[in-house]
Amino acid sequence: MFSPTRLLVFAGLAVSLAECAIVAPAYQGVPATTSDAADFNGTTTDASSIASTAQQVDQKSGAASDAPPDLPVAATTVTALDGTLVNASVSSTTRRGLTNVPSHLTRRNNSNYELVFWGTGTGPNDRDASIEGTAYLTYTLVSNDTYNIDDCLAKCDSVDGCVFANLYYEYNNPGLDALFSNLKCALYGDVHDASEKTNFGGQQLYPAPGGLDYIQQSSGWAAKSLVDPATPAGYDLVFGPTGGANNAPGYMGFAFLDKYDVNACATLCNQRGADGVGGACQYFNIWRAVVNGNPTTYTCSMYYIVADESSAVNFGQGDLVVTESRGYKRQNVVVDGGFEGYTCTPPGQEVPFCFTEGYANWQGTSPAGGNFDASIFNYQPYAHSGSAVALLGSAFGTDQLPGTLAPTQSLSTQAGASYTLQFFHSSFYSGQQSEANASMKVIWNGQTVATLNPGFAQWTPHQFTVTAQGNDKLQFTGGSAPAYIFIDDVSLFPLLE
Ligand SMILES: *[C@@H]1O[C@H](CO)[C@@H](O)[C@H](O)[C@H]1NC(C)=O
Ligand SMILES: *[C@@H]1O[C@H](CO)[C@@H](O)[C@H](O)[C@H]1NC(C)=O
Ligand SMILES: *[C@@H]1O[C@H](CO)[C@@H](O)[C@H](O)[C@H]1NC(C)=O
Ligand SMILES: *[C@@H]1O[C@H](CO)[C@@H](O)[C@H](O)[C@H]1NC(C)=O
Ligand SMILES: *[C@@H]1O[C@H](CO)[C@@H](O)[C@H](O)[C@H]1NC(C)=O
Repeated sequence: MFSPTRLLVFAGLAVSLAECAIVAPAYQGVPATTSDAADFNGTTTDASSIASTAQQVDQKSGAASDAPPDLPVAATTVTALDGTLVNASVSSTTRRGLTNVPSHLTRRNNSNYELVFWGTGTGPNDRDASIEGTAYLTYTLVSNDTYNIDDCLAKCDSVDGCVFANLYYEYNNPGLDALFSNLKCALYGDVHDASEKTNFGGQQLYPAPGGLDYIQQSSGWAAKSLVDPATPAGYDLVFGPTGGANNAPGYMGFAFLDKYDVNACATLCNQRGADGVGGACQYFNIWRAVVNGNPTTYTCSMYYIVADESSAVNFGQGDLVVTESRGYKRQNVVVDGGFEGYTCTPPGQEVPFCFTEGYANWQGTSPAGGNFDASIFNYQPYAHSGSAVALLGSAFGTDQLPGTLAPTQSLSTQAGASYTLQFFHSSFYSGQQSEANASMKVIWNGQTVATLNPGFAQWTPHQFTVTAQGNDKLQFTGGSAPAYIFIDDVSLFPLLE
């Protein structure tokens, strides 16, 4: 039988054994609790939901018989969101120069149009039809002294995003007969063809026995070539245009737009709520769906992982063809926010392992008496993404002082502008018990933005809004070995909404 004294000795041994089990990161310790492998299975683009919604949505329209001419072009509308049909305009503020000026498919330059289809004649029994197609913008009346193609194309030139005009006479419409002309020039932000001549009139606009309205000489004119839309503020073009939509992980959902409007898609990405695992929207893919040869909708897919052309391999399915696909990634003010600029020399180890207190892009500092209290590791098992990561807390486990990690250069921001600061943290290295007091601070220009006391935690994204004063200083401070904190994938996104 053990005496109480011997029991105490055993208890003490158990505690010290538990602590000894934590091998400090500098000795390439294996985390006491491993990270839940980031599971991006099931986060890939839901192409079938996009395709089936594209079969339901109806974005085709034209100049209504009772609409007055020269209405302003309506703001871009979301027609479906994550598989549900909706009707909501995209609210985009004009802060810092991001205007709601649509950046559709844009024509190369003025009056470079080509005939797509001629209309049928002028005889008393000739009948024709006007276009019902996507991205209808507005219509104007041009003088009907002649079949006035020039004035119609000049009007298209003057309307932002116009790449197609449908010119036609509409008869038996009292609204037009009260005006100077019945020659309608309907403008579109996408190119259409004769297969979309589906509006034959046929409405009783004059009281009976007045005839039904009808259409004659409906011709179509398209911009000869399209140019890249202007890149939205806060984004960089990654690829495009191609015929492939992204099929990529980190998918957050999709919206259909009534026009090919990259600014509207950027706004949706900016405003998309952060994913609990993946964080903020960092990338979008906009493309045109052509179904049975006709433009049908404009898809805006959003992602929390930046994709590129290598995964833009969805060329369509069934009668749906992907066209005009472009990818844009959100600009990140932080240089090397994933620490991947720190690599091991000599390279070529099977799993590289090295660490440092600082390198070109980031510097760790320890308070007096501390040793490696903030450091950067290149060791894939510790990283959130890629193979490098930063550590707060003595890398050798030799003191309990908090370290400070900061970019070596001040951040190149615009004074007065707001930014979203995002980073991922984990505090699982030493296990549930030893990480219980894990804590850290986020410091922006010397001011504490947030104090986090996560205790034991898997990789978690965090977002904060900060205001820049220009050349800003960002610091992360904390960790107290063995309550280690890892930090990875630090981003600072211009906050445009
Ligand atoms: C993801 O799916 C692949 C193939 O189905 C599987 O091998 C892999 O283990 C999965 N990953 C996770 C983290 O579940
Ligand atoms: C969408 O809403 C606007 C404004 O309420 C309305 O004018 C328009 O007809 C609606 N469109 C559809 C397709 O329901
Ligand atoms: C329009 O584009 C054509 C060919 O791309 C070019 O030759 C012409 O100079 C351009 N005109 C203007 C006004 O920019
Ligand atoms: C021209 O437009 C006016 C007004 O709508 C209409 O009365 C007239 O018949 C039109 N002329 C032709 C040739 O269509
Ligand atoms: C956590 O902090 C409390 C209060 O300072 C302390 O009593 C406790 O021992 C700490 N736990 C660990 C695992 O360090």
